[in-house]
Amino acid sequence: MNKYHGVIRTIHWVMFILFAAIFVLGAVMIEFKECCEPWNMYGLHKSTGVLVLLLVLLRIIARKKTTIPLHPDYVTPIQHKIAQSVVYLLYLLMIIVPISGYIMSNVHGHHVDFYGLQLPMLFPENPEWEGITSSMHYYLTYSFLGVFLLHIIGVIKHHIDNKDILSRIT
Ligand code: HEM
Ligand code: HEM
Repeated sequence: MNKYHGVIRTIHWVMFILFAAIFVLGAVMIEFKECCEPWNMYGLHKSTGVLVLLLVLLRIIARKKTTIPLHPDYVTPIQHKIAQSVVYLLYLLMIIVPISGYIMSNVHGHHVDFYGLQLPMLFPENPEWEGITSSMHYYLTYSFLGVFLLHIIGVIKHHIDNKDILSRIT
């Protein structure tokens, strides 16, 4: 069948929902930081960020253990290369965005909780690194958003060309 394995398809959509929630939480909690101490939102943002990091590892194992469906014949070699590069970039960012959040929290002297379970301080508190780690998380997050948009443009292009690509992942 010309579909990704059920495990990959399920994780794809679960992670999409989680990323959307993390993104909205991130943007909202920053807005309310000065006035309303939204620390519960911070906790949920960080815990769910760690959860997606675990899910991406599961997703990579699932890719290794299952057969990735070949692209249909109408996909040219150059289109194949572009699609593959976007997928690799998405994987890279799905890994380094949450790691950058973890580093930023530790460098600011904050623990990361995984839904109540306190995770170890993996990086030392260092006020000199606060600015750079915050910028790193910010720019990586928005780069992720940019690559995600490329992914969606690809899907829309197939749709305009009347090529059914969504059924590969649904
Ligand atoms: C998994 C994907 C993640 C995404 C897409 C994401 C996205 C975001 C976004 C959009 C913001 C707001 C940035 C701004 O507008 O200035 C933010 C802030 C933040 N994120 Fe993440 N984040 C993720 C994971 C994590 C993780 C795993 C942690 C920590 C363990 C974390 C910790 C933080 C903290 C502490 C802030 C607030 C920074 C501040 O108060 O200046 N994030 N994140
Ligand atoms: C956070 C958001 C998203 C990320 C990180 C993401 C990432 C990926 C990745 C890495 C793949 C390759 C299969 C895999 O290894 O899982 C994939 C496939 C696919 N995604 Fe997404 N995706 C996202 C959201 C979406 C959305 C919203 C749509 C639809 C509107 C979509 C449509 C597709 C389709 C059609 C495929 C199959 C493409 C092919 O077979 O070459 N994705 N996605």
